[in-house]
Amino acid sequence: MQVYRVQPGGCLGNELRVPGDKSISHRAIMLGAIAQGITEITGFLEGEDALATMNAFRALGVSIEGPDQGQVRVHGVGLHGLRPSPNALDCGNSGTSMRLLAGLLAGQAFSTTLTGDSSLCQRPMGRVADPLRLMKARIDTAAQGRPPLHIEGNSALRGMAYTLPMASAQVKSCVLLAGLYAIGETSVTEPEITRDHTERMLESFGVPVLRQGRTVTVTGGSVLQAAPIEVPADISSAAFFMVGASIAPGSDILLLGVGINPTRTGVIEILRLMGADIQIQREWQAGGEPLADIRVRYAPLHGIAIPPELVPLAIDEFPVLFIAAACAQGRTVLTQAAELRVKESDRLQVMAMGLQELGVNCVVQDDGIVIEGGTGYHGGRVNSHGDHRIAMSFAMAALRASGTIDILDCANVATSFPGFVALARAAGLRIEAP
Ligand code: S3P
Repeated sequence: MQVYRVQPGGCLGNELRVPGDKSISHRAIMLGAIAQGITEITGFLEGEDALATMNAFRALGVSIEGPDQGQVRVHGVGLHGLRPSPNALDCGNSGTSMRLLAGLLAGQAFSTTLTGDSSLCQRPMGRVADPLRLMKARIDTAAQGRPPLHIEGNSALRGMAYTLPMASAQVKSCVLLAGLYAIGETSVTEPEITRDHTERMLESFGVPVLRQGRTVTVTGGSVLQAAPIEVPADISSAAFFMVGASIAPGSDILLLGVGINPTRTGVIEILRLMGADIQIQREWQAGGEPLADIRVRYAPLHGIAIPPELVPLAIDEFPVLFIAAACAQGRTVLTQAAELRVKESDRLQVMAMGLQELGVNCVVQDDGIVIEGGTGYHGGRVNSHGDHRIAMSFAMAALRASGTIDILDCANVATSFPGFVALARAAGLRIEAP
């Protein structure tokens, strides 16, 4: 089992480029595959999740060159050029692969089975199977809507207007991708704004996307034209360093080329509300996505009630935000975040167990958590339960612990952040992965 040992103390410095954005890397392969022409991707995330998507499309008959230092060339086969895979497609640990693929494959002429690892096979897929069935797709799941998913081919999909029961960019994207294969228009209305990378990338591939408030509409049969994609550094990976620098006195780091799409910057807003010193230093655009260099220096943090409208905009960053809360003076309260229970682990429960192991006072609630910060915490042995973001969060926690933190079950860090240990060491974290 992969274990991290992190010695207490130290601070973060240096200029760092974290790996490419996971959400955008998945979408670049998917849209590139069904586009006409060759899609050239740079900055692609060579992590296991995005590689699972890449391997799935290779199995569906798409020729893909790379990855080679973040460069990938996808030879698009057009909307109707995918071929049946002889085997089930293994999505590994990746919910994004499974949920987006389900939508894209629901309108194909052939059948496909999607499966994954033990964590993914516990996660809810009814949230994608239900709307796809409303579009007349034929999909079987295991008990309680869990994977594997079996998607029957030759279903004539019908466009529809769908209101999402939860704020989920994966479900929104699933329905929009199915909409490309449906007759007529498909609209999705979300309860809160979620990440809009699918919409932006479809637009840069020449697909008309109508956006009105919280409703997005696409029309079936729209043709995708290959376009170059420069994947920004992943703000969700940068978040570990933002929190590490914010909590460790003496820190001063510069994070290079980070994606700052406003549907992803909740972590910056929340940290600033807590008193963090975060400066956006340079801003530019690439492929319809905004990027920036971000400077973070140590600043004393204080607890806050996290505004609920920021929850979907920081949904993957809560594990590390809980570490910030443990270091902040006073109480931090998170509500309306029940979605955290159905991520790679139950992130409310697993984070609370780890925080309590270190002596942090916190109480889990149905849809959130209350953390009493600022009283200090000791070292200990924390189990990440195979959740990459929990492993990396407790690694950063060591910057303020009074003793060594051992973190168990860290192999899945490679799903989103290959090279984490080396980069974190270069920044000043006293981490070893024996
Ligand atoms: C993602 C959407 C989010 C996020 C996940 C990536 C995406 O999931 O947690 O890591 O790429 O669309 P939900 O849609 O389940 O909120």
